[in-house]
Amino acid sequence: MRVLLLGNGGREHAFAWKIGQSPLCEKLFIAPGNAGTGQTGENVDLSLSDFPAIAAFALEERIDLIVVGPEAPLVEGIVDFFRADDRLQHIRLIGPARQGALLEGSKSFAKEFMQKRHIPTAAHREFGSAQLEEGLRYLTGRKPPIVLKADGLAAGKGVLICGSVAEAKDELKAMLGGKFGAASSTVVIEEFLDGIEFSVFALTDGQSYKLLPVAKDYKRIGEGDTGLNTGGMGAVSPVSFVDQALMEKVETRIVQPTIQGLSEERMDYCGFVFFGLISVNGDPFVIEYNCRMGDPETEVVFPRLQSDLLQLMLDAADGRLADAAIEIDERAAATVMLVSGGYPGHYEKHKPIEGLEAVSNSLVFHAGTRQSERQVLTNGGRVLAVTSYGHDFRAALANSLKNAELVDFEGKYYRRDIGFDL
Ligand code: AMP
Ligand code: GLY
Repeated sequence: MRVLLLGNGGREHAFAWKIGQSPLCEKLFIAPGNAGTGQTGENVDLSLSDFPAIAAFALEERIDLIVVGPEAPLVEGIVDFFRADDRLQHIRLIGPARQGALLEGSKSFAKEFMQKRHIPTAAHREFGSAQLEEGLRYLTGRKPPIVLKADGLAAGKGVLICGSVAEAKDELKAMLGGKFGAASSTVVIEEFLDGIEFSVFALTDGQSYKLLPVAKDYKRIGEGDTGLNTGGMGAVSPVSFVDQALMEKVETRIVQPTIQGLSEERMDYCGFVFFGLISVNGDPFVIEYNCRMGDPETEVVFPRLQSDLLQLMLDAADGRLADAAIEIDERAAATVMLVSGGYPGHYEKHKPIEGLEAVSNSLVFHAGTRQSERQVLTNGGRVLAVTSYGHDFRAALANSLKNAELVDFEGKYYRRDIGFDL
């Protein structure tokens, strides 16, 4: 198998690490990749929005399988692009076509999909730019907190939780007025759900599915879940409160009707479904769908997957996932993200990273890194994910924290309290 993996984050390094272990993997390219993926496969300089260039590379390098890491190329229709070209029919893709990617790309589409299939989610109403007055009237007298969501992709910033009706009204005006560009020309207003969040992942061939280990990520920059939202500061798997009873509800009320929905609506969906869930008094609700794996969740989920990921993805692409078996490592995993000083605000790049060779008993997944001629440099806000195993997440975390101290770069920051609420 000759594989092309698209993306450049910690998630993609975890994919590359896992795919590279498969005896089926003959050659792995990562575009554009980072310093870590460059040690596992060959990085290639391709733009993820340049589908013709990706197709030309895939033909030239006789690629059999393309794995799409991030959501943007999926929402922009990379799968549709490949399906429409006769010369590309032999190339399998992991990731949904544009319509399926709308589960992540349009909150309004996702809401309608859930409503139609009676999948538990927060009650909502939506308003377009021509409906500002109606929206403001709707907000009058609602009980805060009030959740406002930009319909489209807004780089993880499109969700606002407003503490008062006045704030919600101001934000609705700003959003419909273009605060997030076209992404907020429609706004979904949602009931606030009070509970504890967790992440469930399925690999699907569009008909059947396999569940991967459950994880929980920590999105705020500060300890105790304070401060600004980030792409994710750490994650653990498994998640202690997600017991068998809760998981059964998740499967029957959410996962099964979702996959059945993809199938009944004939969506071309072969890939990962990420269910962002919240447990409210033991009942699961969908906060969001994503059409890809999570980051940093992947950095704890894949280390716990004992089965051959490449084989599973091939089974999905060939529509025979139903017969596949998944084996999971019983140990817990925890990951700690080392980030650049100032992130998620302004931060500097190109700082030399020292001490990587001193790490023991942890996996270091690179996120924002770049290989210069002589050393590895920081190249983003989230720099490295340090993952460890342990008999429980506390033991795993202790090991990651020990190694997080050994790796150094100017401005390094990380949270020491990943899993604090479990
Ligand atoms: P999203 O971008 O949809 O993941 O939303 C970002 C974050 O906002 C989620 O991780 C939740 O913490 C929070 N959130 C979104 N929707 C709701 C809701 N209906 N009730 C409570 N919190 C929410
Ligand atoms: N960790 C959340 C995400 O990947 O969207």
